Amino acid sequence: MSYAKIIGSGGYLPPRVVSNDELAAELATRQIETSDTWITERTGIRQRHIADAGVTTSQLATRAAQAALADAGVSAGELDLIILATSTPDYIFPSTACLVQAQLGNKGAAAFDVQAVCSGFVYALTTADSFIRAGRARTALVIGAEVFSSILDWNDRSTCVLFGDGAGAVVLRAAEEPGIIEAQLNADGSQMKILHAAGNVVGGQVTGDPFLRMDGQAVFKMAVTSLASSAQAVCERAGVPLADIDWFVPHQANVRIINFLGRKLGLPEEKVVVTVDKHANTSAASVPLALDAARRDGRIRPGQLVLMQGVGGGFTWGSVLARM
Ligand code: UT7
Repeated sequence: MSYAKIIGSGGYLPPRVVSNDELAAELATRQIETSDTWITERTGIRQRHIADAGVTTSQLATRAAQAALADAGVSAGELDLIILATSTPDYIFPSTACLVQAQLGNKGAAAFDVQAVCSGFVYALTTADSFIRAGRARTALVIGAEVFSSILDWNDRSTCVLFGDGAGAVVLRAAEEPGIIEAQLNADGSQMKILHAAGNVVGGQVTGDPFLRMDGQAVFKMAVTSLASSAQAVCERAGVPLADIDWFVPHQANVRIINFLGRKLGLPEEKVVVTVDKHANTSAASVPLALDAARRDGRIRPGQLVLMQGVGGGFTWGSVLARM
């Protein structure tokens, strides 16, 4: 049986960086009060990248995909599967994966989107792993990409300070040795109200509320409990003690959640990849962006064990354990 191995990664962030101070000054012009101190102390976020008006998810995704393909030494024509995770697709249809496929110049690969909000990349990676293990694909591109700024209510300080835009991607190839060792995906749709953007299109008009709404404290509690048990379950099934993990790459929503999980799982700070300070929460892009940052600066090396985790709207969560 084939395994799926990560053979390359890439990331792309839109060039405009907005610091907490800049954001606080901009919100103050609309009598919305926030501060660098509040944002930093409650979340660890110091800045975010925001796409200019008109920039689309497929554009960010294509840049990340090109970087991942170059890193892997794989041409776009070799891909036989493209899965893209996003909650901010360019269009209702076709899928953003198909748009990226065309921009990369690939023809014929299966291409589709996955919608699992901030767990999207982990869901997409697990799906691609399953295709490769089943022999239905050999070389896969998995992308998490978002223009999340487009679904933020910039008058709601409890959410608009938390998110940013970006894209991250990996290339997977069939291999004799793992590769992705174990994965687990979960959802609890009864919790949809704690994090949702409940708008839709009827008769060509947007109806409902198209902006992201979140009960931050409820999400915080769900995130820490679900991710702790997911990490334990995946490692147990893989027969890998948590202590053997070289790098923990969690969803980048809040440094307090990340630190809590690290302590609960007994993973010291030196093993935890944190990018939330620079990227804020980029939803489906957060895990591949963090993975790529740590691969490129030489922290994550071939042969090491990496635990990736996503969590978000749905409510959804999941873990992937991989040997790099
Ligand atoms: O990617 C999906 C996963 N998402 C997450 O994991 C997010 C999880 N939740 C969180 O990260 C945290 O709950 C937040 C960062 C969203 C909020 O932190 P918190 O410590 O739970 O704060 P809170 O919601 O309890 O709010 C505390 C206070 C409130 O004021 P009062 O009622 O105590 O007077 C808020 O109105 O902070 C106020 N507040 C703000 N103040 C300044 C809320 N947002 C802001 C703000 N600036 N931006």
